[in-house]
Amino acid sequence: MAIYLAPWRTYLEKALHKNRSQTFSRYFQLATVNNQGYPTNRTVVFRGFLTDSNSLKIITDIRSEKFAHLQNNPQAEICWYFAKTREQFRIRGKIDLITEVDKI
Ligand SMILES: Cc1cc2nc3c(=O)[nH]c(=O)nc-3n(C[C@H](O)[C@H](O)[C@H](O)COP(=O)(O)O)c2cc1C
Repeated sequence: MAIYLAPWRTYLEKALHKNRSQTFSRYFQLATVNNQGYPTNRTVVFRGFLTDSNSLKIITDIRSEKFAHLQNNPQAEICWYFAKTREQFRIRGKIDLITEVDKI
C-alpha cells in the first residue's frame, strides 16, 4: 500500500538530492525543551525516513540529555540548512522515542 507523502517531503527530498555532494548536508539542528522549559539545541545526523512513514530518523544515546527532555516533553523543532542550494527547512512536531526494547 502506498504511503501518504507529506507535502514538505518532496521539497526536502529534492534538497537532499541536490546537496548530496556535501556530506554535512545531512546534519541538522534539533531543539528540545529542557525540564526548566528552556530551549536546548544541538546538531544531529539525518538517518533517513522511518519505513512507511514521513518521520525523520535520528539516532542517539538513551543517556543523553535530549532523551530525558523528550521523555518529559516530546515537542521539538529541527532547523536544516542546505548550503549549496541555500534553503532552510524548519519542521516542528512530536518525537517518538523508539528503543531497542521497543523493537524486540
Ligand atoms: C556534526 C555532528 C553530528 C552529530 N550527530 C549526532 C547524532 O546523530 N546523534 C546524537 O545524539 N548526537 C550527535 N551529535 C552530538 C550532539 O550535537 C550533542 O552534542 C550530543 O548528542 C549531546 O546532546 P544532549 O546532551 O543535548 O543530548 C553530533 C554532533 C555534531 C557536531
